[in-house]
Amino acid sequence: MINRIPVGIAGLGAYAPEKVLSNQDLEKLVDTSDEWIYQRTGIRERRIAAPDEDSGAMGAIAAMRALDDARVAPEDVDLILCATTTPDLPFPTNACHIQHRIGAKRAGGFDINSACSGFVFAFNTAVQFVQSGTYRNVLVVGTEKLSTIVNYEDRNTCVIFGDGAGAMLLRPLDDAGRGEVLSTSISTNGGPEQDAVLMVAAGGSRLPASPETLAAKQHTMIMGGNKVYRFAVSTFAKLVKESLEPYGYEQLGRIVPHQVNQRIVEAACERLDMPVDMVFSNIHKYGNTAAASVPVAFTEAYREDMLPKGKLVVSAAFGAGLSWGHFLVRW
Ligand code: UT7
Repeated sequence: MINRIPVGIAGLGAYAPEKVLSNQDLEKLVDTSDEWIYQRTGIRERRIAAPDEDSGAMGAIAAMRALDDARVAPEDVDLILCATTTPDLPFPTNACHIQHRIGAKRAGGFDINSACSGFVFAFNTAVQFVQSGTYRNVLVVGTEKLSTIVNYEDRNTCVIFGDGAGAMLLRPLDDAGRGEVLSTSISTNGGPEQDAVLMVAAGGSRLPASPETLAAKQHTMIMGGNKVYRFAVSTFAKLVKESLEPYGYEQLGRIVPHQVNQRIVEAACERLDMPVDMVFSNIHKYGNTAAASVPVAFTEAYREDMLPKGKLVVSAAFGAGLSWGHFLVRW
């Protein structure tokens, strides 16, 4: 019998870049309208990082805010896990860049790329390290500068995505004092068909950067929106239902999911027979920020007093891969 150390969420932090890109701004770039975007997605605006602001820089600000919230010094961090699809460089990792920027001298670290599910995957990994007693202070960061891989001539994608960063510090529950992790899962289902649903085709080893790939804009995202939509609705509903099964719906305090699309949230709630206001949403302000969306939403839900004490809070995420996962905590 393995003795598992209970894990808690000790600190939360988020960062949104200053520049706002509104639906009206996008009307000037592509054939779309504020009305279409808001009705189909719930998004009004998103944030865009400054040209000299990379995802590591945004992640470091969110990380420092999570450490301040937990009252833990950077020197006491043991491990940094950074979830990102848009790292500063192909290598070294963003974890190294964040370590340097915050002065976490003792920490080891690495990056995790699982697109929109990335934060939940990194959270799950962090739990293993704390639960096993390997590390006490594990910083989990989700950060994205998706504006660098969005084609602002493609109305299918450019209306959806934005930039930002969020972070959590996981510690043994005795030190954290809140956010006891009850369960967490990660799943993937890969293949060529799944690639085609959501991917960046060039810039990797399969199709390295070349003048041709640049001219064809193959370094930007392509998405089969409808396929993602259907997958997201059923996966969201399934993750919430299965994670709550051992406890019962009456113990639920809030759902803080990946901020994917308000219509997806509404459709999933209908399947779950659950009121939409059970779900915390800030997609109207930030759009979909992939690996950053769960910690940004969680931090705002906490600051806005939307996480009832003693109740269950579930986060579910899903995205390219295909990939999906959840974590469930008692707040
Ligand atoms: O984290 C995972 C990342 N992926 C996502 O978050 C995306 C999930 N999917 C979605 O959010 C939705 O599928 C979209 C918002 C992307 C699209 O909504 P939809 O209701 O599935 O629209 P659709 O793709 O079926 O397109 C309906 C119509 C089409 O026109 P026609 O063929 O009916 O004439 C599109 O060309 O809407 C058109 N359209 C637009 N019109 C105005 C597509 N994008 C736009 C746009 N503005 N931005």
